[in-house]
Amino acid sequence: MNTYLGIDLGTSGVKILLVDSCGKILAQTTEEYPVYCLKDGWSEQNPLDWVNAVKTGINRLFKNGKNDRLDVKGVSFGGQMHGLVLMDNQDRVIRPAILWNDGRTQKQTDYLNREIGKEKLSNLTANIAFAGFTAPKILWVKENEPENFNKIAKICLPKDYLAYMMTGKFSTDYSDAGGTLLLDVKNKRYSKEMCDICSVDRSWLAELYESYEVTGKIKNEFGLPNAFAVAGAGDNAAAAIGTGTVSNGDCNISLGTSGTVFISGDNFSVDDKNSLHAFPHATGKWHLMGSILSAASANKWWIEDVLNTDYDLAVDGIQEKMGENNVYFLPYLMGERSPHNDVNARGAFIGMRQNTSKEEMSLAVLEGVAFALKDCVEIAKENGVAISKATICGGGAKSIIWKEIIANVINAEICSLETEQGPAYGAAILAMVGVGEYESVQQATEKLVKITSTTKPNQELVKKYEQKYQIYKTLYPTLKKVFENISTDKN
Ligand code: XUL
Repeated sequence: MNTYLGIDLGTSGVKILLVDSCGKILAQTTEEYPVYCLKDGWSEQNPLDWVNAVKTGINRLFKNGKNDRLDVKGVSFGGQMHGLVLMDNQDRVIRPAILWNDGRTQKQTDYLNREIGKEKLSNLTANIAFAGFTAPKILWVKENEPENFNKIAKICLPKDYLAYMMTGKFSTDYSDAGGTLLLDVKNKRYSKEMCDICSVDRSWLAELYESYEVTGKIKNEFGLPNAFAVAGAGDNAAAAIGTGTVSNGDCNISLGTSGTVFISGDNFSVDDKNSLHAFPHATGKWHLMGSILSAASANKWWIEDVLNTDYDLAVDGIQEKMGENNVYFLPYLMGERSPHNDVNARGAFIGMRQNTSKEEMSLAVLEGVAFALKDCVEIAKENGVAISKATICGGGAKSIIWKEIIANVINAEICSLETEQGPAYGAAILAMVGVGEYESVQQATEKLVKITSTTKPNQELVKKYEQKYQIYKTLYPTLKKVFENISTDKN
């Protein structure tokens, strides 16, 4: 039977799934690598770590001899978006990759939004500048590391660097390219004007593909002699494929290191303030997306780094406090993207009393992330997109209580799937479509993606959470100035 590899190049590690053509996961592995935070608000990785981790992962998948490397017909990718990888004219990495959650580019982001102007950016690219996007990072390197800028021969996104190393083909896909701020999203081509604004030579940029198109063959050194590479997608668009979020109005929530609300659309659209990202979808169509920078990572920070415990112990006994908690948590540990676009925003607990318990604070963390996602859902609603149902994926989707909280906070049914590995599963599906195992992404997802349970909102809790959200909503504006004052970020 034909098999496929779905590779999700994440922030904490790479997940690789080996999937058969009926969608059954035959084997999986996760290989971790470090994130380097050399300065407050910085977030970098070594691109060679990604390639080595993938090599190790592929070898691990086939080590027990149960599955045959010769059966692998396609490989595709989902990848952390927006990261800046720079290569010189010998294809050497010039400096560590600057990641999606790096906050160093406030000055360049302000320049783009204020001096070039949000309206012009939106006309050229369908988006405004956010600190994590690729274009402000290019400007940052130009201004702060001219010696590195002068060496640039290629610029690419994380998964495209990996794919280049695996195939020798310098390619990208529309969904991921949308997050560079160099793509004219509506017309699906690079914007010459944006390239000029960012001093980017068009020859530095990868060739554009639809996510389900074959780009090349996998090199021999990866030991998959019959495998073609398929372009793949940004991790959120890949997750949307892996969760069957492919029709107009379908919504997927991802609870990974970041948190996203992804809304699939048949037509190109932008919201009135460009608070949501407007990017191409891996289906060949479009999507809107709200992206919060800390989701499962906020919970991991609280449980592992602060409480020094594990998830089961931390959530024990918090169920009965749902809807009754008077502690609030702002999850802005890495600043915030949607909707505040503020690198200075910080995490905060508010409302503790002498008798506040650890459980209430643990609950507040889960609720705070849910409220931050609701901020994105509200913008969609203001722009005429009502969300009454959403699939969920990412590590946080394993938490039953978190799904209940989200269902009640956003007042929508939350559908769990056979696998919560959205991006890696989506990448495997794109690989299948690419080599012709299925006719289209839609046909493949109808066959392969299965909902296993649904968490329904309870209207009494919905009411309570709505009241709490009204308070939550006032916290960031109240603290904005304080965050600015206490920020140690310097550009
Ligand atoms: C999306 C975003 C994140 C990363 C995480 O805009 O920045 O979801 O893709 O990997």
